[in-house]
Amino acid sequence: MNIILLGPPGAGKGTQAQRLVEKFGMRQLSTGDMLRAAVKAGTPVGLQAKAVMERGELVSDEIVSALIGEELDAMGPDTGAIFDGYPRTAAQVESLDKLLADRGRTLDHVIELEVDEDALVERICGRFTCANCGKGYHDKFEQPKQPGVCDKCGSTEFKRRPDDNEETVRTRMAEYRAKTAPILPIYDARGIVTRVNGMADIDHVTAAIERTMAG
Ligand code: AP5
Repeated sequence: MNIILLGPPGAGKGTQAQRLVEKFGMRQLSTGDMLRAAVKAGTPVGLQAKAVMERGELVSDEIVSALIGEELDAMGPDTGAIFDGYPRTAAQVESLDKLLADRGRTLDHVIELEVDEDALVERICGRFTCANCGKGYHDKFEQPKQPGVCDKCGSTEFKRRPDDNEETVRTRMAEYRAKTAPILPIYDARGIVTRVNGMADIDHVTAAIERTMAG
């Protein structure tokens, strides 16, 4: 199964993708994570992307689609893909169609996480991840069971993203409204969009996504 998780910054795409990976053995393809890894490694892609990401703007379609193609090629043909943060523009929708068709894959579901924008700044500015395994947490909504210790790997090192500040979040939201929300009608016309209430608690959102995938 191949699915897209769609929603504005902080909607819960990454949180839900991690859960689906653990439960169903699917692969999370997060262009944001791929770009952050490229920035950290100082690759040519990372050098191009760094300042754009710090401003909260979108990186070029060509770069992100190439990254997705490489990840798809590295996956076994039977492993399902969860697209997290991709596609984000009409051009990326076209590229994804081609990337999937070339590999004999089809898109099963587009799950839109519907959220109240006012809540997103709080969600994003309170977010942190384990520096070792990448598990996501939140100061208020998802704390480690033992304070300061990662539930998953036991690490005591955590990190926050440089673009998780209020000013950049506002730009990221504006980019979403201008360039990403307009792709929904394309998928609506194919009859594969399910809307899930992303304001429900994290477990309820997971359950709603699983119902969609089962149905
Ligand atoms: P990216 O990394 O994709 O960031 P984003 O889309 O802004 O999404 P986030 O990761 O911020 O949010 P999320 O929906 O995953 O929320 P999360 O689950 O963490 O992109 C970063 C940048 O890279 C972009 O700005 C752009 O520059 C570039 N880029 C990436 N992809 C690109 C592309 N395709 N094209 C061009 N450029 C691209 O949840 C947030 C917090 O809320 C967490 O702490 C979580 O615990 C909490 N939370 C989650 N769900 C709930 C809930 N139901 N209730 C309460 N709290 C919750």
